Amino acid sequence: MSSATFDINQIRAQFPALTQQVNQQPLIYLDSAATTQKPQCVIDVLQRYYGSNSANVHRGSHSLTASATAQFEAARDTVAHFLGAQSRNEIVWTRGATEALNLIAQTYARSTLQAGDEILVGEMEHHANIVPWQMVAEQTGANVIKVPMTAQCQFDLDAFRLLLSPRCKIVALAHVTNVTGTRQPIETVIEMAHKAGAIVVVDGAQGIVHEPVNVATLNADFYVFSGHKLYGPTGIGALYGKQTLLDAMPPWHGGGKMVEHVSFEQTTFTQVPGKFEAGTPNVAGALGLASAIEWLQGLPRNEIEQHIHRLKLRAENALQKLSDVRLIGVQPSASVLTFVVDGVHSQDIATLLDQQGIAVRAGHHCAHPLMDALGVSGTVRLSFALYNTEEEVDQLIIALEKALELL
Ligand code: ALA
Repeated sequence: MSSATFDINQIRAQFPALTQQVNQQPLIYLDSAATTQKPQCVIDVLQRYYGSNSANVHRGSHSLTASATAQFEAARDTVAHFLGAQSRNEIVWTRGATEALNLIAQTYARSTLQAGDEILVGEMEHHANIVPWQMVAEQTGANVIKVPMTAQCQFDLDAFRLLLSPRCKIVALAHVTNVTGTRQPIETVIEMAHKAGAIVVVDGAQGIVHEPVNVATLNADFYVFSGHKLYGPTGIGALYGKQTLLDAMPPWHGGGKMVEHVSFEQTTFTQVPGKFEAGTPNVAGALGLASAIEWLQGLPRNEIEQHIHRLKLRAENALQKLSDVRLIGVQPSASVLTFVVDGVHSQDIATLLDQQGIAVRAGHHCAHPLMDALGVSGTVRLSFALYNTEEEVDQLIIALEKALELL
């Protein structure tokens, strides 16, 4: 754990994107749950790779490829260590959390599910943690069963207990949900699911940003995340899977590097993690993600979370005073706030805020079932990151008041 202290000015100075103007106003970026801005160290790593170090990995024998391969595999070690994986073989590079979930569905699930088996999926999940399960259910004859949320936008453990039966083979849920920032009871779910004979897939895209994760202690079967929400590049993410599961899973994409030997009669596959990494990987992305993780590990994460929590609380208190605003599913320790203004389209609010230089996300947030359960077509979501300030929150409230006057 780092002994550094949190200095907001020092943090902001590392993010070149934050100094720009958008619509003639200083940018206030409150959409970090969609993707974060990138610190200079990550940008530098990408610049170095593309500027002088470009080479493929695990192919060829020249110096550049040897150096790129060493860095690429060191990046895998960084991710393995960050997640508390027991072996580097348990880390598979993917394009992001979405691709990782599809990989699990199309390899583990497709090869093990049988007609009548059940996949339990939380109601608040992002589409990326619903649709891959529906696709594999269609292919295997399994059924996707919704685990409802409570009125407070929390995972309904009582309902889960009743739904969990020997037919359930997979439980899929987010560590932290993307619309309300609900921290779901993954520890309890994992324990209960294992007792019932099911494995658990955790979508860590939002959760890993705000909480240290140890997959071994957690006893998660699979844990996936994206680099770009963690201050890293887009197009890179990681899949953690217990090695026994990964070893038994068939490959997914076919191509170079995932094979031992290819002939027209028979092809044999290499060991994990290479078995799941066909084709040239996103080398720059992997190096950039490792750089983002190392940067984050050098910061006082507890203090950062307290800072983010203070910002969210400040916004929450101010929004509560605006009579038109209806906050939805507020969670005490979340980094996001979501709200609607009845009778007003969420997109209109986002557009009016954008005109004042404020970036927020509006719409269904890739969570149609949650929107349906809430009885709304969309919400406005504010998401706070370590580089946001109290002044930005105050500016947001002023801008929102102006927007509401126009609507
Ligand atoms: N999943 C991302 C979000 O919630 C894109 O905004």
